[in-house]
Amino acid sequence: MESILIRGGRRLSGRLVVQGAKNSILPILAASLLNCQGVHLQRVPDLDDVRNMLAILSSLGAEVNFSGDEVVLDTAGVKEYHVPDYLMREMRSGIFLLGPLLSRLGKVRVCYPGGCAIGPRPINLHLGGLQALGARVEESNGFITLSGRLKGTRTGLDYPSVGATENLMLAAVMAEGETVIYNAAREPEIVDLQNFLNKGGARVSGAGSSTVVIRGVKELHRTSYRVFPDRIVSGTYLMAAAITGGELTLEDIIPGHLTAVTNLLRESGAAMEIGADQISIRGGEIAAIRLACTSPYPGFPTDLQAPLTALMTVANGRSLIVEKVFKKRFRHIPELQKMGARISQKNSHVAIVGVPHLTGAGVEATDLRAGAALVLAGLAARGETVIKGIRYIDRGYDDLPRVLVLLGADIERVKKPAVSQPGSGSRKV
Ligand code: EPZ
Repeated sequence: MESILIRGGRRLSGRLVVQGAKNSILPILAASLLNCQGVHLQRVPDLDDVRNMLAILSSLGAEVNFSGDEVVLDTAGVKEYHVPDYLMREMRSGIFLLGPLLSRLGKVRVCYPGGCAIGPRPINLHLGGLQALGARVEESNGFITLSGRLKGTRTGLDYPSVGATENLMLAAVMAEGETVIYNAAREPEIVDLQNFLNKGGARVSGAGSSTVVIRGVKELHRTSYRVFPDRIVSGTYLMAAAITGGELTLEDIIPGHLTAVTNLLRESGAAMEIGADQISIRGGEIAAIRLACTSPYPGFPTDLQAPLTALMTVANGRSLIVEKVFKKRFRHIPELQKMGARISQKNSHVAIVGVPHLTGAGVEATDLRAGAALVLAGLAARGETVIKGIRYIDRGYDDLPRVLVLLGADIERVKKPAVSQPGSGSRKV
Protein backbone atom coordinates (compact mmCIF):
# COMPACT_ATOMS: atom_id res chain seq x y z
CA MET A 1 0.00 0.00 0.00
CA GLU A 2 1.46 3.39 -0.99
CA SER A 3 2.14 6.09 1.58
CA ILE A 4 3.52 9.61 1.53
CA LEU A 5 6.68 10.47 3.49
CA ILE A 6 7.17 14.16 4.34
CA ARG A 7 10.20 15.70 6.04
CA GLY A 8 8.70 18.94 7.33
CA GLY A 9 10.06 22.43 7.81
CA ARG A 10 10.70 23.47 4.19
CA ARG A 11 9.20 26.73 2.95
CA LEU A 12 7.28 26.41 -0.34
CA SER A 13 7.95 28.88 -3.11
CA GLY A 14 7.25 29.14 -6.81
CA ARG A 15 4.51 29.53 -9.40
CA LEU A 16 1.83 27.00 -10.34
CA VAL A 17 -0.86 26.52 -12.98
CA VAL A 18 -3.63 24.68 -11.13
CA GLN A 19 -5.30 21.53 -12.50
CA GLY A 20 -8.82 21.52 -13.98
CA ALA A 21 -11.69 21.29 -11.50
CA LYS A 22 -12.55 17.75 -10.36
CA ASN A 23 -16.06 18.84 -9.41
CA SER A 24 -16.59 20.33 -12.88
CA ILE A 25 -15.15 17.54 -15.00
CA LEU A 26 -17.14 14.79 -13.29
CA PRO A 27 -20.62 16.16 -14.11
CA ILE A 28 -19.34 17.32 -17.54
CA LEU A 29 -18.21 13.77 -18.34
CA ALA A 30 -21.66 12.51 -17.33
CA ALA A 31 -23.19 15.25 -19.51
CA SER A 32 -21.26 13.89 -22.52
CA LEU A 33 -23.85 11.07 -22.60
CA LEU A 34 -26.32 13.64 -23.93
CA ASN A 35 -24.13 14.47 -26.90
CA CYS A 36 -23.86 11.87 -29.70
CA GLN A 37 -21.82 14.15 -31.98
CA GLY A 38 -18.56 13.96 -30.01
CA VAL A 39 -16.97 15.82 -27.07
CA HIS A 40 -13.41 17.14 -26.68
CA LEU A 41 -12.38 18.33 -23.19
CA GLN A 42 -9.23 20.17 -22.14
CA ARG A 43 -7.58 20.84 -18.76
CA VAL A 44 -8.77 17.44 -17.54
CA PRO A 45 -6.90 16.48 -14.33
CA ASP A 46 -5.44 12.97 -14.11
CA LEU A 47 -7.38 11.77 -11.06
CA ASP A 48 -8.65 8.38 -9.93
CA ASP A 49 -12.22 9.74 -9.92
CA VAL A 50 -11.82 10.93 -13.53
CA ARG A 51 -10.45 7.56 -14.63
CA ASN A 52 -13.30 5.86 -12.80
CA MET A 53 -15.92 7.98 -14.54
CA LEU A 54 -14.27 7.28 -17.92
CA ALA A 55 -14.35 3.56 -17.10
CA ILE A 56 -18.08 3.85 -16.41
CA LEU A 57 -18.70 5.62 -19.74
CA SER A 58 -16.66 3.01 -21.56
CA SER A 59 -18.60 0.18 -19.85
CA LEU A 60 -21.85 1.77 -21.12
CA GLY A 61 -20.59 1.70 -24.72
CA ALA A 62 -18.76 5.02 -25.15
CA GLU A 63 -15.40 5.35 -26.93
CA VAL A 64 -12.99 7.08 -24.59
CA ASN A 65 -9.52 8.54 -25.17
CA PHE A 66 -7.59 10.26 -22.35
CA SER A 67 -4.19 11.66 -23.31
CA GLY A 68 -2.26 14.38 -21.45
CA ASP A 69 -4.91 16.71 -20.09
CA GLU A 70 -7.34 16.10 -22.94
CA VAL A 71 -10.29 13.70 -23.24
CA VAL A 72 -12.09 12.81 -26.48
CA LEU A 73 -15.43 11.02 -26.13
CA ASP A 74 -17.79 9.43 -28.63
CA THR A 75 -20.95 8.33 -26.81
CA ALA A 76 -22.98 7.48 -29.94
CA GLY A 77 -22.60 3.77 -29.17
CA VAL A 78 -24.01 3.96 -25.62
CA LYS A 79 -26.80 1.39 -25.24
CA GLU A 80 -26.30 0.00 -21.70
CA TYR A 81 -28.46 1.48 -18.93
CA HIS A 82 -27.02 -0.49 -15.96
CA VAL A 83 -23.97 1.19 -14.43
CA PRO A 84 -21.48 -1.47 -13.15
CA ASP A 85 -21.81 -1.79 -9.37
CA TYR A 86 -18.07 -2.03 -8.67
CA LEU A 87 -17.57 1.34 -10.42
CA MET A 88 -20.61 3.00 -8.82
CA ARG A 89 -19.30 2.08 -5.37
CA GLU A 90 -15.96 3.81 -6.02
CA MET A 91 -17.28 7.35 -5.75
CA ARG A 92 -20.30 9.55 -5.18
CA SER A 93 -20.19 11.05 -8.68
CA GLY A 94 -21.76 8.04 -10.38
CA ILE A 95 -25.04 9.56 -9.24
CA PHE A 96 -24.62 12.24 -11.94
CA LEU A 97 -25.38 9.54 -14.51
CA LEU A 98 -29.03 9.23 -13.49
CA GLY A 99 -30.19 12.34 -15.36
CA PRO A 100 -28.34 11.90 -18.66
CA LEU A 101 -28.81 8.12 -18.95
CA LEU A 102 -32.52 8.40 -18.19
CA SER A 103 -32.81 11.19 -20.75
CA ARG A 104 -30.81 9.27 -23.36
CA LEU A 105 -32.10 5.68 -22.92
CA GLY A 106 -35.39 6.11 -21.03
CA LYS A 107 -34.04 3.89 -18.28
CA VAL A 108 -31.11 3.70 -15.81
CA ARG A 109 -30.19 1.27 -13.03
CA VAL A 110 -27.53 1.89 -10.37
CA CYS A 111 -26.58 0.58 -6.97
CA TYR A 112 -26.17 3.16 -4.21
CA PRO A 113 -23.08 5.29 -4.86
CA GLY A 114 -19.91 5.27 -2.76
CA GLY A 115 -18.08 8.43 -1.74
CA CYS A 116 -15.99 10.01 0.98
CA ALA A 117 -17.00 9.07 4.54
CA ILE A 118 -17.88 12.61 5.58
CA GLY A 119 -21.37 11.94 6.87
CA PRO A 120 -24.63 10.64 5.42
CA ARG A 121 -24.79 11.08 1.64
CA PRO A 122 -28.55 10.77 0.91
CA ILE A 123 -29.85 11.11 -2.64
CA ASN A 124 -33.45 12.03 -1.87
CA LEU A 125 -33.11 15.45 -3.56
CA HIS A 126 -31.81 13.79 -6.74
CA LEU A 127 -34.64 11.23 -6.84
CA GLY A 128 -37.37 13.68 -5.84
CA GLY A 129 -36.32 16.13 -8.57
CA LEU A 130 -36.16 13.42 -11.23
CA GLN A 131 -39.61 12.18 -10.19
CA ALA A 132 -40.89 15.75 -10.60
CA LEU A 133 -39.55 15.58 -14.18
CA GLY A 134 -41.62 12.44 -14.80
CA ALA A 135 -39.27 9.60 -13.84
CA ARG A 136 -40.67 6.43 -12.25
CA VAL A 137 -38.35 5.45 -9.37
CA GLU A 138 -38.03 1.88 -8.01
CA GLU A 139 -35.70 1.05 -5.14
CA SER A 140 -35.25 -2.65 -4.38
CA ASN A 141 -32.43 -5.06 -3.40
CA GLY A 142 -29.95 -2.21 -3.17
CA PHE A 143 -30.64 -1.00 -6.72
CA ILE A 144 -32.35 2.14 -7.95
CA THR A 145 -34.11 1.89 -11.32
CA LEU A 146 -35.51 4.98 -13.02
CA SER A 147 -37.59 4.90 -16.18
CA GLY A 148 -39.96 7.04 -18.23
CA ARG A 149 -40.04 10.06 -20.52
CA LEU A 150 -38.90 13.36 -19.03
CA LYS A 151 -41.07 16.47 -19.26
CA GLY A 152 -40.10 19.98 -18.21
CA THR A 153 -41.49 21.23 -14.89
CA ARG A 154 -40.91 23.74 -12.09
CA THR A 155 -39.25 22.12 -9.09
CA GLY A 156 -37.49 23.34 -5.93
CA LEU A 157 -34.68 21.81 -3.85
CA ASP A 158 -35.13 21.72 -0.05
CA TYR A 159 -31.37 22.29 0.16
CA PRO A 160 -29.12 23.85 -2.55
CA SER A 161 -27.49 20.50 -3.32
CA VAL A 162 -24.67 20.76 -5.90
CA GLY A 163 -25.14 17.26 -7.25
CA ALA A 164 -28.92 17.37 -7.32
CA THR A 165 -28.84 20.72 -9.19
CA GLU A 166 -26.47 19.21 -11.77
CA ASN A 167 -28.44 15.97 -12.12
CA LEU A 168 -31.68 17.85 -12.77
CA MET A 169 -29.99 20.19 -15.26
CA LEU A 170 -28.77 17.16 -17.21
CA ALA A 171 -32.16 15.45 -17.08
CA ALA A 172 -33.85 18.63 -18.37
CA VAL A 173 -31.52 19.47 -21.30
CA MET A 174 -33.50 17.32 -23.75
CA ALA A 175 -36.76 17.01 -21.82
CA GLU A 176 -39.89 18.32 -23.54
CA GLY A 177 -40.58 21.98 -22.58
CA GLU A 178 -39.09 24.25 -19.94
CA THR A 179 -37.69 23.29 -16.52
CA VAL A 180 -37.07 25.72 -13.66
CA ILE A 181 -34.97 24.63 -10.67
CA TYR A 182 -35.56 26.81 -7.58
CA ASN A 183 -33.12 26.98 -4.65
CA ALA A 184 -30.43 25.65 -6.97
CA ALA A 185 -26.83 25.45 -5.76
CA ARG A 186 -24.68 28.41 -6.91
CA GLU A 187 -21.24 26.77 -7.07
CA PRO A 188 -18.95 27.81 -9.97
CA GLU A 189 -18.86 24.17 -11.15
CA ILE A 190 -22.54 24.56 -12.05
CA VAL A 191 -21.69 27.57 -14.21
CA ASP A 192 -18.94 25.44 -15.81
CA LEU A 193 -21.53 22.73 -16.58
CA GLN A 194 -23.97 25.30 -18.03
CA ASN A 195 -21.20 26.75 -20.26
CA PHE A 196 -20.28 23.28 -21.50
CA LEU A 197 -23.91 22.35 -22.25
CA ASN A 198 -24.66 25.64 -24.03
CA LYS A 199 -21.51 25.31 -26.14
CA GLY A 200 -23.10 22.10 -27.48
CA GLY A 201 -26.41 23.83 -28.27
CA ALA A 202 -28.33 23.41 -24.99
CA ARG A 203 -30.43 26.30 -23.66
CA VAL A 204 -29.54 26.67 -19.97
CA SER A 205 -29.51 29.96 -18.05
CA GLY A 206 -29.23 31.16 -14.47
CA ALA A 207 -26.40 28.90 -13.29
CA GLY A 208 -24.57 30.66 -10.45
CA SER A 209 -27.89 32.00 -9.17
CA SER A 210 -30.52 30.19 -7.13
CA THR A 211 -32.81 29.73 -10.13
CA VAL A 212 -31.69 27.72 -13.16
CA VAL A 213 -33.88 27.59 -16.30
CA ILE A 214 -33.46 24.87 -18.94
CA ARG A 215 -35.36 24.89 -22.24
CA GLY A 216 -35.45 21.41 -23.79
CA VAL A 217 -33.69 20.91 -27.16
CA LYS A 218 -33.79 17.97 -29.58
CA GLU A 219 -30.05 17.25 -29.77
CA LEU A 220 -26.60 18.65 -29.04
CA HIS A 221 -23.73 19.14 -31.51
CA ARG A 222 -19.99 18.40 -31.40
CA THR A 223 -18.42 20.31 -28.50
CA SER A 224 -14.91 21.29 -27.49
CA TYR A 225 -14.55 22.77 -24.00
CA ARG A 226 -11.83 23.78 -21.50
CA VAL A 227 -12.73 23.15 -17.87
CA PHE A 228 -12.48 25.77 -15.10
CA PRO A 229 -9.43 25.65 -12.76
CA ASP A 230 -9.99 23.79 -9.49
CA ARG A 231 -10.79 26.33 -6.74
CA ILE A 232 -10.46 23.76 -3.93
CA VAL A 233 -7.03 22.60 -5.11
CA SER A 234 -6.09 26.30 -5.49
CA GLY A 235 -7.15 26.96 -1.89
CA THR A 236 -5.21 23.92 -0.71
CA TYR A 237 -1.98 25.13 -2.30
CA LEU A 238 -2.48 28.65 -0.92
CA MET A 239 -2.82 27.15 2.56
CA ALA A 240 0.28 25.00 1.96
CA ALA A 241 2.25 28.19 1.27
CA ALA A 242 0.73 29.86 4.33
CA ILE A 243 1.45 26.99 6.76
CA THR A 244 5.10 26.76 5.62
CA GLY A 245 5.68 30.54 5.68
CA GLY A 246 6.44 30.39 1.98
CA GLU A 247 5.33 32.32 -1.06
CA LEU A 248 3.38 31.10 -4.07
CA THR A 249 1.70 32.47 -7.18
CA LEU A 250 -1.20 30.57 -8.74
CA GLU A 251 -1.62 31.37 -12.44
CA ASP A 252 -4.52 31.00 -14.89
CA ILE A 253 -7.14 30.77 -12.15
CA ILE A 254 -10.43 32.62 -11.46
CA PRO A 255 -9.78 34.60 -8.25
CA GLY A 256 -13.49 35.44 -7.91
CA HIS A 257 -14.13 31.76 -7.13
CA LEU A 258 -11.92 32.04 -4.04
CA THR A 259 -13.08 35.26 -2.39
CA ALA A 260 -14.25 33.59 0.84
CA VAL A 261 -10.92 31.72 1.00
CA THR A 262 -8.61 34.66 0.30
CA ASN A 263 -10.55 36.80 2.82
CA LEU A 264 -9.92 34.20 5.55
CA LEU A 265 -6.27 33.83 4.56
CA ARG A 266 -5.83 37.62 4.85
CA GLU A 267 -7.49 37.43 8.31
CA SER A 268 -4.92 34.75 9.20
CA GLY A 269 -2.13 37.22 8.43
CA ALA A 270 -1.11 36.12 4.96
CA ALA A 271 -0.14 38.86 2.46
CA MET A 272 -2.24 38.39 -0.67
CA GLU A 273 -2.03 40.00 -4.10
CA ILE A 274 -4.99 39.27 -6.34
CA GLY A 275 -4.81 39.88 -10.09
CA ALA A 276 -7.21 39.22 -12.98
CA ASP A 277 -6.20 35.55 -13.36
CA GLN A 278 -3.70 34.92 -10.58
CA ILE A 279 -3.29 35.05 -6.81
CA SER A 280 0.02 35.53 -4.94
CA ILE A 281 0.40 34.71 -1.27
CA ARG A 282 3.24 35.30 1.18
CA GLY A 283 3.02 33.46 4.50
CA GLY A 284 4.41 34.62 7.81
CA GLU A 285 3.12 34.70 11.40
CA ILE A 286 -0.26 32.89 11.35
CA ALA A 287 -3.04 34.64 13.25
CA ALA A 288 -5.98 32.65 14.66
CA ILE A 289 -9.34 33.03 12.91
CA ARG A 290 -12.02 33.92 15.45
CA LEU A 291 -14.83 32.22 13.50
CA ALA A 292 -15.07 30.47 10.11
CA CYS A 293 -18.28 28.74 9.00
CA THR A 294 -18.58 26.47 5.97
CA SER A 295 -21.64 27.04 3.80
CA PRO A 296 -22.84 26.67 0.21
CA TYR A 297 -21.17 28.98 -2.33
CA PRO A 298 -20.31 31.82 -2.14
CA GLY A 299 -19.60 30.96 1.51
CA PHE A 300 -16.40 29.28 2.73
CA PRO A 301 -16.30 25.84 1.04
CA THR A 302 -16.72 22.72 3.17
CA ASP A 303 -14.00 21.08 1.04
CA LEU A 304 -11.43 23.45 2.58
CA GLN A 305 -12.56 23.00 6.17
CA ALA A 306 -10.00 20.28 6.91
CA PRO A 307 -7.07 22.14 5.29
CA LEU A 308 -8.04 25.32 7.19
CA THR A 309 -8.21 23.32 10.42
CA ALA A 310 -4.65 22.13 9.77
CA LEU A 311 -3.48 25.71 9.17
CA MET A 312 -5.08 26.91 12.41
CA THR A 313 -3.30 24.25 14.49
CA VAL A 314 -0.12 26.38 14.30
CA ALA A 315 -1.79 29.82 14.48
CA ASN A 316 -1.27 32.22 17.39
CA GLY A 317 -4.39 31.92 19.52
CA ARG A 318 -7.77 30.24 19.48
CA SER A 319 -9.82 29.58 16.32
CA LEU A 320 -13.36 28.28 15.88
CA ILE A 321 -14.48 26.52 12.70
CA VAL A 322 -18.12 25.49 12.23
CA GLU A 323 -18.86 22.79 9.62
CA LYS A 324 -22.42 23.37 8.48
CA VAL A 325 -22.60 21.23 5.34
CA PHE A 326 -21.53 17.67 6.26
CA LYS A 327 -22.33 16.15 9.62
CA LYS A 328 -19.20 14.04 10.04
CA ARG A 329 -16.43 15.84 8.23
CA PHE A 330 -14.06 15.61 11.19
CA ARG A 331 -12.04 12.42 10.74
CA HIS A 332 -8.86 14.45 10.15
CA ILE A 333 -9.00 15.72 13.74
CA PRO A 334 -7.72 12.62 15.62
CA GLU A 335 -4.94 12.33 13.04
CA LEU A 336 -3.89 15.97 13.57
CA GLN A 337 -3.99 15.37 17.34
CA LYS A 338 -1.39 12.60 16.84
CA MET A 339 0.89 15.38 15.51
CA GLY A 340 0.39 17.50 18.63
CA ALA A 341 -2.53 19.65 17.50
CA ARG A 342 -4.78 20.99 20.27
CA ILE A 343 -8.28 20.53 18.80
CA SER A 344 -11.64 19.72 20.35
CA GLN A 345 -14.79 18.98 18.34
CA LYS A 346 -18.37 19.01 19.57
CA ASN A 347 -21.24 18.62 17.13
CA SER A 348 -20.44 20.96 14.22
CA HIS A 349 -17.95 23.08 16.21
CA VAL A 350 -14.17 22.64 15.95
CA ALA A 351 -12.18 24.63 18.54
CA ILE A 352 -8.44 24.92 17.93
CA VAL A 353 -5.73 26.30 20.24
CA GLY A 354 -2.64 27.04 18.16
CA VAL A 355 0.66 25.39 19.20
CA PRO A 356 4.19 26.60 18.37
CA HIS A 357 4.80 23.60 16.14
CA LEU A 358 3.48 20.17 15.13
CA THR A 359 5.57 17.00 15.33
CA GLY A 360 5.78 14.47 12.52
CA ALA A 361 3.91 11.19 13.10
CA GLY A 362 2.36 8.18 11.36
CA VAL A 363 -1.17 9.20 10.33
CA GLU A 364 -3.92 8.00 8.02
CA ALA A 365 -6.02 9.78 5.39
CA THR A 366 -9.68 8.83 5.72
CA ASP A 367 -11.06 10.95 2.89
CA LEU A 368 -9.85 13.24 0.14
CA ARG A 369 -9.69 16.58 1.94
CA ALA A 370 -8.66 15.07 5.26
CA GLY A 371 -5.67 13.66 3.38
CA ALA A 372 -4.84 17.12 2.04
CA ALA A 373 -5.03 18.52 5.57
CA LEU A 374 -2.52 15.92 6.79
CA VAL A 375 -0.13 16.81 3.97
CA LEU A 376 -0.27 20.48 5.01
CA ALA A 377 0.38 19.51 8.63
CA GLY A 378 3.30 17.30 7.60
CA LEU A 379 4.85 20.11 5.53
CA ALA A 380 4.90 22.34 8.62
CA ALA A 381 5.74 19.71 11.25
CA ARG A 382 9.17 19.06 12.76
CA GLY A 383 10.46 15.67 11.69
CA GLU A 384 8.98 13.00 9.48
CA THR A 385 5.31 12.34 8.78
CA VAL A 386 4.06 9.19 7.04
CA ILE A 387 0.55 9.38 5.63
CA LYS A 388 -1.25 6.14 4.76
CA GLY A 389 -4.37 5.99 2.56
CA ILE A 390 -3.07 8.30 -0.16
CA ARG A 391 -5.46 6.71 -2.64
CA TYR A 392 -7.95 9.21 -1.23
CA ILE A 393 -5.60 12.10 -2.08
CA ASP A 394 -5.13 10.77 -5.62
CA ARG A 395 -8.90 10.96 -6.10
CA GLY A 396 -8.81 14.76 -6.14
CA TYR A 397 -5.22 16.04 -6.42
CA ASP A 398 -3.27 15.46 -9.63
CA ASP A 399 0.03 14.07 -8.32
CA LEU A 400 0.21 16.27 -5.21
CA PRO A 401 3.66 15.00 -4.10
CA ARG A 402 5.24 15.81 -7.49
CA VAL A 403 3.78 19.34 -7.48
CA LEU A 404 4.95 19.97 -3.92
CA VAL A 405 8.49 18.79 -4.75
CA LEU A 406 8.55 21.37 -7.55
CA LEU A 407 7.61 23.98 -4.93
CA GLY A 408 10.48 22.96 -2.64
CA ALA A 409 8.89 20.40 -0.30
CA ASP A 410 10.73 17.28 0.87
CA ILE A 411 7.97 14.76 0.10
CA GLU A 412 7.84 11.42 -1.67
CA ARG A 413 5.60 8.44 -2.32
CA VAL A 414 6.82 5.31 -0.59
CA LYS A 415 5.60 1.85 -1.41
CA LYS A 416 5.11 0.07 1.89
CA PRO A 417 5.99 -3.61 1.31
CA ALA A 418 2.85 -5.72 1.53
CA VAL A 419 2.96 -7.08 5.08
CA SER A 420 3.49 -10.83 4.63
CA GLN A 421 0.90 -12.74 6.62
CA PRO A 422 2.38 -15.38 8.97
CA GLY A 423 2.59 -18.63 7.07
CA SER A 424 2.04 -16.84 3.82
CA GLY A 425 5.39 -18.09 2.46
CA SER A 426 5.47 -20.93 -0.06
CA ARG A 427 4.31 -24.05 1.70
CA LYS A 428 6.74 -26.97 1.91
CA VAL A 429 4.94 -30.02 0.64
C1 EPZ B 1 -20.50 18.08 -4.11
O1 EPZ B 1 -20.97 16.92 -3.45
C2 EPZ B 1 -19.00 17.91 -4.23
N1 EPZ B 1 -18.69 16.72 -5.01
C3 EPZ B 1 -18.40 17.78 -2.83
O2 EPZ B 1 -16.98 17.70 -2.99
C4 EPZ B 1 -18.74 19.06 -2.04
O3 EPZ B 1 -18.25 18.91 -0.73
C5 EPZ B 1 -20.26 19.24 -2.00
O4 EPZ B 1 -20.79 19.27 -3.36
C6 EPZ B 1 -20.66 20.53 -1.29
O5 EPZ B 1 -20.07 21.61 -1.94
C7 EPZ B 1 -18.78 16.79 -6.36
O6 EPZ B 1 -19.14 17.79 -6.94
C8 EPZ B 1 -18.37 15.55 -7.12
P1 EPZ B 1 -24.38 18.26 -1.91
P2 EPZ B 1 -22.56 16.62 -3.33
O7 EPZ B 1 -25.41 17.46 -2.59
O8 EPZ B 1 -23.22 17.01 -4.59
C9 EPZ B 1 -27.23 16.94 1.58
C10 EPZ B 1 -14.83 16.87 -2.58
O9 EPZ B 1 -14.13 16.76 -1.55
N2 EPZ B 1 -27.99 16.22 0.55
O10 EPZ B 1 -24.29 19.73 -2.19
O11 EPZ B 1 -22.71 15.22 -2.86
C11 EPZ B 1 -25.89 16.26 1.87
O12 EPZ B 1 -26.08 15.22 2.82
C12 EPZ B 1 -16.31 16.50 -2.52
O13 EPZ B 1 -14.41 17.26 -3.71
C13 EPZ B 1 -29.22 15.66 0.89
O14 EPZ B 1 -29.67 15.76 2.03
O15 EPZ B 1 -22.95 17.62 -2.17
C14 EPZ B 1 -25.05 17.38 2.42
O16 EPZ B 1 -25.30 17.54 3.81
C15 EPZ B 1 -16.75 16.05 -1.15
N3 EPZ B 1 -29.92 14.97 -0.06
C16 EPZ B 1 -25.56 18.60 1.67
O17 EPZ B 1 -26.83 18.23 1.09
C17 EPZ B 1 -29.45 14.84 -1.35
O18 EPZ B 1 -30.16 14.21 -2.19
C18 EPZ B 1 -24.63 19.07 0.55
O19 EPZ B 1 -24.52 18.00 -0.34
C19 EPZ B 1 -28.21 15.42 -1.67
C20 EPZ B 1 -27.49 16.11 -0.71
